[in-house]
Amino acid sequence: MSAKIQAPRGTYDVLPHLADERARLETAAAKIFARAGYGRIETPTFEATQLFARTVGEATDVVQKEMYTFEDGSGDSMTLRPEGTAPAVRAYLEHGKARDPQPVKFWYLSQFFRYERPQAGRFRQFWQIGAEAIGSADPAVDAEVILLLAELLEAIGARDVKLVLATLGQPESRAAYREELKAYLRAHEDQLSREVVERIDLNPLRAFDAKHESTQRVMANAPRLIDRLPQEDLDHFAEVQDLLRAADLAYEVDTTLVRGLDYYTRTLFEFQSGALEAAQNTLGGGGRYDGLAEAIGGPPTPGMGWAAGVERMLMASTQTPPVEPPVDIFVAYHPGHKLAAFKLASDARRAGHSTRLELAGRSVKGQLKQASRIRPRYVAIFGDEGVQLRDRDGGEDKLVAPETVMHHIRGTL
Ligand code: HAM
Repeated sequence: MSAKIQAPRGTYDVLPHLADERARLETAAAKIFARAGYGRIETPTFEATQLFARTVGEATDVVQKEMYTFEDGSGDSMTLRPEGTAPAVRAYLEHGKARDPQPVKFWYLSQFFRYERPQAGRFRQFWQIGAEAIGSADPAVDAEVILLLAELLEAIGARDVKLVLATLGQPESRAAYREELKAYLRAHEDQLSREVVERIDLNPLRAFDAKHESTQRVMANAPRLIDRLPQEDLDHFAEVQDLLRAADLAYEVDTTLVRGLDYYTRTLFEFQSGALEAAQNTLGGGGRYDGLAEAIGGPPTPGMGWAAGVERMLMASTQTPPVEPPVDIFVAYHPGHKLAAFKLASDARRAGHSTRLELAGRSVKGQLKQASRIRPRYVAIFGDEGVQLRDRDGGEDKLVAPETVMHHIRGTL
């Protein structure tokens, strides 16, 4: 026997019972987005590698270690999408959406790919539901976008959810702050973890995320970006908060919040769930990305959005047991009556009835056992004398002619 082939590590199969649960999530999301005027988009599974390198950021883990990149037949570098924001903005620019009333509002439910260490809530192929509102810098966009995710998490019964907010300001103030932080980290190098020291130049902000104790002590006194932001950015952030309060949405401000993507400007947020393990407790998050369009050759175009992991949302939600949809008719048959039975089953389905037919060559006894498990409204047993029609909801079995079965059940289903 040859070696057994299994699904790649960090991937999983969506079996029917899982598909039902996901369909409910999709239905809930579709309703929420429709009410707020978001239109669904689907972009290609792979894009030019540059799209992600220039936006997500060359120094990020996503670009450095996690992308599934390959050369296609023409020698062009392609990447399986690790995220959906850059593709959404690319599509906005490519389709001239700047000419539409702004902001243009998209949502998506798609698969994404990152070569990460697989664990609970972390996969190499995963699904995200996401929203992007492109073309307006109004703080009301930020608040509306955040509220949509709050609404979705509430609709699916996500447990123990907390919203955390931060602001990053514009690239200029961030760059100046980065230099100040780098200098601070260098001055305390001897107390920092090796990993943090190695990344001082590449990604000094990551130091705030460190689990290393003495690094954490150093970071408690590190300069904070929020104290270095211009008034304009602070006002923007204050208005976002006013709007969220007006909508009765509770939040915490955490000025050290960092996310793994470089394109963020101004508002940054995350919804965490206490029902998940700390390392993967972010159900979803996002923020503003006012410089992203320019990074891929477009005109200055503000944008704001989020993405939430489908797997994590399902893990954090109270699952209602799946309800089996009722079956209208079960068609059984004695030997020699397969054709007539098959015809009835296909006629019944065409007429819109949920129908099951024996497909595994069971004896009549076996078929009826199967029928009693399924509990259909009708059982039709084809035999030499005609069709024995059994109605779960009434009276004795009737013996009817095969061509009249549909006539007998019509109007009752
Ligand atoms: P992200 O924080 O990289 O943001 O991912 C958003 C969410 O996707 C995470 O909070 C998590 O629930 C889920 N997720 C990410 N990676 C994995 C994984 N390997 N396995 C399972 N779930 C995962 C973005 O992707 C941005 N595009 C969000 C955004 C939209 N920002 C603005 N607009």
